[in-house]
Amino acid sequence: MPEKRILLKNCGRIDPKNIDTYLAQDGFKAWQKTQKEMTPDAVVAEIKASELRGRGGAGFPCGLKWELAAREESDEKFLICNADEGEVGAFKDRYLLQNDPFTLIEGIAIAAYAIGAGKCCIYLRAEYHYLLDGLKNAIAQAREKGLLDGLDIDIHEGAGAYICGEESALMDSIEGKRGEARYRPPFPPSKGLWGKPTIINNVETLSTIPHIVLNGAQWFHEIGTEKSTGTKLFSVSGDVAKPGVYELVLGSSLKELVVDICGADNIKMVQIGGATGGIVPYSMISTPLAYETVLGSGAVTVFNESRQVIDFVYRTMDFLAAESCGKCTPCREGTEAMIEILGRLATGDGRQEDIQALEDLSGTMMLSSLCGLGQAASIPVLDTLKYFRNEYETRIQQSLFLRSLRGRI
Ligand SMILES: Cc1cc2nc3c(=O)[nH]c(=O)nc-3n(C[C@H](O)[C@H](O)[C@H](O)COP(=O)(O)O)c2cc1C
Repeated sequence: MPEKRILLKNCGRIDPKNIDTYLAQDGFKAWQKTQKEMTPDAVVAEIKASELRGRGGAGFPCGLKWELAAREESDEKFLICNADEGEVGAFKDRYLLQNDPFTLIEGIAIAAYAIGAGKCCIYLRAEYHYLLDGLKNAIAQAREKGLLDGLDIDIHEGAGAYICGEESALMDSIEGKRGEARYRPPFPPSKGLWGKPTIINNVETLSTIPHIVLNGAQWFHEIGTEKSTGTKLFSVSGDVAKPGVYELVLGSSLKELVVDICGADNIKMVQIGGATGGIVPYSMISTPLAYETVLGSGAVTVFNESRQVIDFVYRTMDFLAAESCGKCTPCREGTEAMIEILGRLATGDGRQEDIQALEDLSGTMMLSSLCGLGQAASIPVLDTLKYFRNEYETRIQQSLFLRSLRGRI
């Protein structure tokens, strides 16, 4: 069975407004275990051994990151919970925040203990304002029970910028600046928020921590594939009969998710990982969902045969150009140049040299952009050129033909 409810096990079972219902499901047992039996180093070692990879998109090994921050000597360290979830088609963090905020808070308490942080900031997506009271209530209840002693947890609401999900822009935003990607190094574990060692983890990553601590790294490692351990949440939308949030063992196939579980048919392609995510054509529907193949934030958008590839890529680039922070030239100018070309192609005014221009631009943006937005913006372009090149070529031929007709009239 590809579906396995570890992170979702409390969703629908506990009352997210009442911590007692969480405590009755072994809630805060993992945190108690760390306080009674584990040093901070032992917690870091356990997470390292589990080989948990960050669930926010980049898949960076969580324990390794924690170790870097834990080693830093500093009077102050910060933990940031990235609840920005601005990725197109992503809504799995929202599901956790809404249905089981206590597991996240327990994960935050454990992570802060492991790295030696006294302050945590939850960066909440602007559009998730309606979740604010529930989150505040969950924190207050945990504090009342004496489960958050020595740890401040603040909630910082975003203002609606996609780039502010990117960790360095997110820190700028918390510091009251315009959210723009930072030059790296230094990396956040040594110099992050307010110049102090900082760990930034996604909601799902932090919500996985209590399960690993309670059941052990080996238990977690036995789930999934060698390089992608555990389960993963996927938010599935688009041309499917049953959109929603599903938890699958990593390494399960895309077919199991979108066809067997979500009931998609007549599939043309699937985008995995949001606006900058890779494109999988139907011929590759058996692809395993793992970090070594295709995986990002867990946003899965299905497109059926009625969808036009170029129109989709054009709309995606339009979004990315609008959301580029503009700090680096390759992303700021590159996304605009892409729109110009894709817009031409979409409106029947394509030119013979357009495909080459898109490929050249993609290479430059990937190599020289400052952050993941510009580096990955061209992935949908390159992937669709790889799998649906005929659609680009046909559009160009049609444009050339129509122009030659116009010339004759
Ligand atoms: C443009 C852009 C947007 C991002 N948006 C998010 C987001 O909304 N939530 C998130 O957790 N990570 C997001 N990330 C990834 C973060 O930069 C960072 O890698 C992540 O929060 C680290 O947490 P993790 O190691 O637990 O995955 C984004 C990255 C980029 C480049």
